[in-house]
Amino acid sequence: MSGTPTGIPSDELSAIASEFGTPTYVYDAALMRERCRALSAACGDYPHVMHYAIKANATLAIVRLMRECGARADANPGGEIEVALRAGYAPSDIVFTGVGKSAAELRRAVSLGVKAINAESPGEVERIAAIAHDLGTVARVAIRINPDVDAGSHPHISTGLKTNKFGMSVDAARAMARDIGRHPSLNIVGLHVHIGSQITKTLPLTRAAETLSDLALSLLAEGVPLQHLDIGGGLGISYQAGQAVVSPEEYAAAILPAIRRTGLTLVLEPGRWIVGPAGMLLTTVVDLKTQPADPETGEPRLFVIADAGMTDLLRPALYGAWHDIVAVSPRPGPHVLCDIVGPVCETTDTLGSGRRLPPVEVGDLLVVRDAGAYGAVMASNYNRRPTAAEVLVENGAWRVVRRRQTVDDLLQWDV
Ligand code: LLP
Repeated sequence: MSGTPTGIPSDELSAIASEFGTPTYVYDAALMRERCRALSAACGDYPHVMHYAIKANATLAIVRLMRECGARADANPGGEIEVALRAGYAPSDIVFTGVGKSAAELRRAVSLGVKAINAESPGEVERIAAIAHDLGTVARVAIRINPDVDAGSHPHISTGLKTNKFGMSVDAARAMARDIGRHPSLNIVGLHVHIGSQITKTLPLTRAAETLSDLALSLLAEGVPLQHLDIGGGLGISYQAGQAVVSPEEYAAAILPAIRRTGLTLVLEPGRWIVGPAGMLLTTVVDLKTQPADPETGEPRLFVIADAGMTDLLRPALYGAWHDIVAVSPRPGPHVLCDIVGPVCETTDTLGSGRRLPPVEVGDLLVVRDAGAYGAVMASNYNRRPTAAEVLVENGAWRVVRRRQTVDDLLQWDV
């Protein structure tokens, strides 16, 4: 298969499909390791710590792999703190981020003593303080600011505008930082920002870093003992040939000049950039159907119906996201215009519309690329569809790291 971004050859993909069936996520361990290394290397000598954003791919083996690569963890509410602990992380390796942390989740984070709870609101800070007081401990808190910067990515995944639900205004954060500094049950350890995901321009990143650093400098001057600046995640990847993206070096050049002025340790929370290109969704064509000619193009519409759909990879249905789709063993002949769709009872259940594929037959294997981030983690059981198997490939050998669900698995929760 020419041009595939991972190093996994077609014969291995075919062997994986025959051994485990489809749909199956396939991950390239070597590529994940390499990307983890490259992103950290781009920050050079400046003191920095990478906390892998578990939300991008929370499969235990992948989180363990990130730990082996030297990344620490960024956990969201839900089960991600427990995933991080099971992957071998110490609480002091975990930053806990996310809007709407429940009382139980905050209590768990405070009692574990995580490295930082990235606090989203004054109310949340109060709740953290009350829990820490109750437990007779001191909680480490970082304040998430909302810099009012447009990340320029899809509106569904932009988080840095003042109209978004995330973070606190700079003024609110400043007041909050002073309050925390005086609170006996709280330590302020840093400031946090995350303006969005799949960012492909440097300017918003620079603006966010500058706002963060300006606030940090004025707080440091007042004697607030900040230790780190957490710039969040967001670095985009190229989903489509020719799509311009920001390289790790350009990323570092965009944020480091501002951060450097503070001398504080830089915390990064990358997810997609590390794991996205290293994963793909392997799927089998289960049906082919030609609908009447499109009145605009005059071309008949060929539907290539795959066994993977929006329950396996939601991004195309939810964001209109593009993922390249290629045949594992392309057949010779002219390419055909087609829509590659899933088997779910929704018209939005599409993997890719208006694509050109080589001649395709029922039983052929296709690969949906760049599905390592926000793929398996966003799967659902709609239509009682069991979630896909996940396979990790390393040095030409592979193993299941998450087995395919069965309908029995799903029914065990019904009482
Ligand atoms: N830190 C925070 C606080 C976040 O909210 C996120 C992602 C990250 C780090 C990691 O961002 P990354 O480096 O992966 O861009 N489901 C969407 C993406 C949602 C991102 C949510 N937050 C998608 O499929 O595009």
